[in-house]
Amino acid sequence: MDEKYTRLDSDEVMRLITERKEQLGGEVCILGHHYQRDEVFRFADFTGDSLKLSQQAAETGAKYIVFCGVRFMAESADILTGDDCAVILPEMSAGCEMADLAAAADVAEALERISAVAGDTVVPITYVNSSAGVKAVTGRSGGACCTSSNARSVFEWALREKDSGGAGGAKILAAPDQHLARNTAIAMGYGLDDCVLYDPAAENGGLTDEQIRDATFILWNGYCYVHQVFTAEQIEHVRGERPGIKVIVHPECPREVVAAADLSGSTEQILRAVGDSPAGSSWAVGTEVHMVHRLAADNPDKYVRLLSDTPAVCTSMSRIDPPHLLWVLDNLAEGKIVNRISVPEDVAADARAALERMIS
Ligand code: 13P
Ligand code: SF4
Repeated sequence: MDEKYTRLDSDEVMRLITERKEQLGGEVCILGHHYQRDEVFRFADFTGDSLKLSQQAAETGAKYIVFCGVRFMAESADILTGDDCAVILPEMSAGCEMADLAAAADVAEALERISAVAGDTVVPITYVNSSAGVKAVTGRSGGACCTSSNARSVFEWALREKDSGGAGGAKILAAPDQHLARNTAIAMGYGLDDCVLYDPAAENGGLTDEQIRDATFILWNGYCYVHQVFTAEQIEHVRGERPGIKVIVHPECPREVVAAADLSGSTEQILRAVGDSPAGSSWAVGTEVHMVHRLAADNPDKYVRLLSDTPAVCTSMSRIDPPHLLWVLDNLAEGKIVNRISVPEDVAADARAALERMIS
């Protein structure tokens, strides 16, 4: 980005973004994830969780999608749109630390090893918070993607018999988030002993053949550092401080946190649960702080607080700031595309299969 953008006064940046948006009209569609800072979020044409935004991307007729989220979201948007739509990530370093915990070659190796032990019965299910390469491995192997809002239906599909429209799997390899996968398995009625942890850094994933054979869920050793901040003790604390308070957390939180909470759900589901609750309700929310603060501001008739006292910040999301947004819009207004996210077609084709299986 040109240095001059960092020197602009913030009100001027806001004014110029508004002007550029008007100038570009329907050619550009700005998508904003719930974790974005307010100064960026307010410019989004559509907001949502990962699932809603990927559906929105697939349906938009815009020439340009400016994705105010993180790289894996922009990659999914590129995979789901045609070549005539350019997907732009305003700051290329906005990655996802959880996605970085699973490399495509490691997932392919794990799948090979697990299939060698367990036979042809393992279905890879990949959380959308993953690289396009990991999604491609999944798509090539008959698996599907999932998001935090549909993980349970996708897991159920994976284990359902082929005659009943499922994938006919006996096991799921779930990457990269161990917590989402464990929480989903428990919600489906399985026990903790049906899950084993596959550590890509250890020989054979740190698992014996017997452990692999006995497990239904093989969980990748990945996690989100933002959601690791939340604990069951914090839940006890907020309940002690404000009796009757409801606790809602994201399923990326560890098992004991989801178990102690009243509810869990994707960012959009959290938004709806709090929004639809009666005036006077009290909520402690275990997810990224920007979303929780906005939720509190949008629901002045309710008490809404972050579950932890220490802020849970997704620093990757925060890298998308108004100067970067203005910079990409300025370039588009001059007919130039900067920071385009372009997944090579050989990877995109297999990744698309995994994403489309999820959407269908
Ligand atoms: P949602 O799909 O719930 O928006 O979650 C995305 C994410 O990255 C959570 O950390
Ligand atoms: Fe990735 Fe965690 Fe940020 Fe979500 S909150 S984008 S999982 S680092």
